[in-house]
Amino acid sequence: MSSALFSPVRLAGLELANRIVVSPMCQYSADDGCANDWHMMHLGMLANSGAALVVVEATHVERHGRITHGCLGLYSNDNEAALARVIAQVRRAGSAKFGIQIAHAGRKASAQRPWEGGGSLQPGEDNWETIAPSAIPFGDKWQTPRAMTEADMNRVRDAFVSSVQRALRIGFDEIELHMAHGYLLHSFMSPLSNKRTDEYGGSFENRMRFPLSVARAVRAAVPKHVPLGARITGSDWREGGLTPDDAVAIAKLLKDEGLDFVCVSSGGVAADIRNPSEPGYNVPIAARVKKEAGIATRTVGLIVKPDFADHVVTTGQADQVAMARSFLDDPHWGWHAAKVLGGEVKRPPQYLRAGPKLWAPAAAKV
Ligand SMILES: Cc1cc2nc3c(=O)[nH]c(=O)nc-3n(C[C@H](O)[C@H](O)[C@H](O)COP(=O)(O)O)c2cc1C
Repeated sequence: MSSALFSPVRLAGLELANRIVVSPMCQYSADDGCANDWHMMHLGMLANSGAALVVVEATHVERHGRITHGCLGLYSNDNEAALARVIAQVRRAGSAKFGIQIAHAGRKASAQRPWEGGGSLQPGEDNWETIAPSAIPFGDKWQTPRAMTEADMNRVRDAFVSSVQRALRIGFDEIELHMAHGYLLHSFMSPLSNKRTDEYGGSFENRMRFPLSVARAVRAAVPKHVPLGARITGSDWREGGLTPDDAVAIAKLLKDEGLDFVCVSSGGVAADIRNPSEPGYNVPIAARVKKEAGIATRTVGLIVKPDFADHVVTTGQADQVAMARSFLDDPHWGWHAAKVLGGEVKRPPQYLRAGPKLWAPAAAKV
């Protein structure tokens, strides 16, 4: 039995053993942006999940660009040293390659950890001023951000480049820019959050100007053999917001800037928007992006069952599938999918006795 999900894929100079990706997942557990033992445990566990690639959570380019006080950053030497320590160790523990998502939270910054409320930080909780394309809050009870000046844009663009350079020094195998979920770069793209009247707002071309300038500056800093991509929005799921047609156009522009892949996600641009709840709700949009923009395409969103994940790749709707909650639920999701689909995964020697034969009748005698 052969499975498309367990076939290799190449992105720029990176060879990946299969099409399974652990989606970036904020842990809200860092110390002033620094990774710690929680990240060591979390990423070490995922290094042996059977996914060829694990993407480290949204990692922020400036201190005030973090979502919460617990979010990872790459804005200081301490941040870089802490993440370098964790990544060096988790690489030794498992066989996955490691990517990183580089982000700025924009108007969704200065927030409480989800389990502490998830809303805007309140006075007395060490809150800070947020920035965005326009002075429009993310939702009711969220603080109003300050509309960015060109000086802010220049600083943030430089910060993206600096964080990416830190990620390259750490030795990440791939880099993903966060251009989705309502964070800063997406909020420039969406007409729902960008109401500027200057050259950075209004038309699609204008709304893309700042995000594309970031992509261009980062691409210039990332060697060609290191895959650089972006998580983009397939739909804002709201009248007047970004649509699948826009996603195709965004992917084409990013491809022209030299990006190697996009990951199609969606939603998150305003607090009261809810994503669809059917399995693989972004898959049809990803299929359009892949076909019409002609760029390597990953997708994410309620892909849970191995058969369905395999179907998405077999039918050519996406080149890779990313999963988040499935890997929290089952950190060996890839091993179990391999058993179901007849694929091969690498296991550490310490765990070899839990190989495919475990489910064979003879194993019952052990
Ligand atoms: C705990 C948690 C943290 C997340 N953090 C991030 C993040 O850092 N960056 C991101 O792009 N998406 C983040 N997401 C969204 C996931 O990457 C994914 O897109 C979403 O959960 C849908 O995929 P799923 O149905 O496989 O969980 C997070 C999701 C969860 C559950």
